[in-house]
Amino acid sequence: GIPSLKDVFANDFKIGTAFSNSELATEVDRKLMIKHFGSVTPGNVLKWDSTEPQEGVFQFIESDKAVQFAVDNGQEIRGHTLIWHQQTPDWVFRDASGNLVSKAVLYQRMENHIKTVIGRYKNSVHTWDVANEVIDASQSDGLRRSLWYQIAGEEYIEKAFQFAREADPSAKLFINDYNTHESGKSQALYNLIGRLKAKGVPIDGVGHQMHIKISWPSMQEIETSIVKFADLGIDSHITELDMDIYDNSSQSYDTFPSQLAQAQASRYKQLFDIFRNHKNLISSVTFWGKDDGNTWLRSFPVIRKNWPLLFDERLQSKPAYWAVVDIP
Ligand code: XIL
Repeated sequence: GIPSLKDVFANDFKIGTAFSNSELATEVDRKLMIKHFGSVTPGNVLKWDSTEPQEGVFQFIESDKAVQFAVDNGQEIRGHTLIWHQQTPDWVFRDASGNLVSKAVLYQRMENHIKTVIGRYKNSVHTWDVANEVIDASQSDGLRRSLWYQIAGEEYIEKAFQFAREADPSAKLFINDYNTHESGKSQALYNLIGRLKAKGVPIDGVGHQMHIKISWPSMQEIETSIVKFADLGIDSHITELDMDIYDNSSQSYDTFPSQLAQAQASRYKQLFDIFRNHKNLISSVTFWGKDDGNTWLRSFPVIRKNWPLLFDERLQSKPAYWAVVDIP
């Protein structure tokens, strides 16, 4: 058979994939996940709208299934995600009249949510993305003007990490964001982590989502952003890697042009060369899906075919896979 990704990178970092529970229904999907990936990230079922759709009404049927699959197969789990401005119900931020709640109420809801969800999966979830996408580099303090921020300011991020640490002293606690290769964004994230660390906030690592394209960004930008965080003394994970084949929303192909398949492959190789060169900084690399039939990029930003991952819709290894395992 073909080489297993997790074996190929055994001396470098964990290799992971996001998945949805529909992929657990088919044996070929399960086998591919077990063979190649030492870490998994449930793609949606640990988000707030899934685990606590109404205040105090927790629903763990789907998240239990996802976590149990990984536990049964000895895979690490990245818990994604606790605090985000998307896929979080509106009730979290509002009172019965629809007005924004006080900080005290927000923190009480946050604490109950974080402690209930983390508590349930203590000893099985290895790492939590405690805060997701909090940066907006265009703001003077670098922070996104989410409802979290509007109610509580920067302090909500500290509270989230503190509650998470109280809930599980041994889980790795991460802050996760996209486009961390952009210098302004990476600087804003770096500054935030520096402020948090100076206050003693328990933060173990930074997650680089790494939703990239064939044409963008440059390898130099990616490498610079990874190296930048080293002196903060935190771990780095690549958390949501995929490589969109399109440059803009108006393009659409019925089949994957072989020229783009080759370009994608050589770029994936360059990318993994960088990751490997910095394996002392990066402990985990997770793809946002295992195969092109199961990628969010077939519905975002528009509905169209896309081929961003290492395996095709039929679960066959693509040129990108052979480039990553470095077999010409
Ligand atoms: C995506 C999921 O893959 C989709 O199924 C869902 O509809 C939207 O969210 N950044 C993140 C992930 O942190 O949670 C997102 O996942 C992709 C972008």
